[in-house]
Amino acid sequence: MKVLVINGPNLNFLGRREPEIYGDKSLETINNEIKLFGKKCGMDIEFFQSNHEGFIIDKIQEVYGKVDYLIINPGALTHYGIGIRDAILSTNLKTIEVHLSNVYSREEFRHKSVVSDICIGKITGFGSEGYKMALQYLSSLKK
Ligand code: DQA
Repeated sequence: MKVLVINGPNLNFLGRREPEIYGDKSLETINNEIKLFGKKCGMDIEFFQSNHEGFIIDKIQEVYGKVDYLIINPGALTHYGIGIRDAILSTNLKTIEVHLSNVYSREEFRHKSVVSDICIGKITGFGSEGYKMALQYLSSLKK
């Protein structure tokens, strides 16, 4: 099973960025943990991060027909990134939405997501464990 994990704007700053909300692990550390977890589940995982919506769209189009699932934390683009929504729809990529923080316990503008309704499901509020929870679910589909 091939899985692409995408992180959107400002997530390259994890560890330094508002650690009381997002935790103190860097994205590199988180990705290494995901990689290890994925290996145990027999998954082939690719990682991508960008601060630019267009680059994320390019990446989603690039993997068209090449990966089985997408796990995405679109960062702030979650709330208004219609281009990302359209890219997921265009490629028909089966997607899980992940957020480190519990978006529903924060500002109201974070309660809205333009991708939730086209995703398999959404994990929010469990910190970096959320990515592994998504993988855990995907690995259950193999059995
Ligand atoms: C986030 C939540 C978003 O509202 C925010 O803009 C982010 C991170 C999260 O992982 O909790 O950049 O997606």
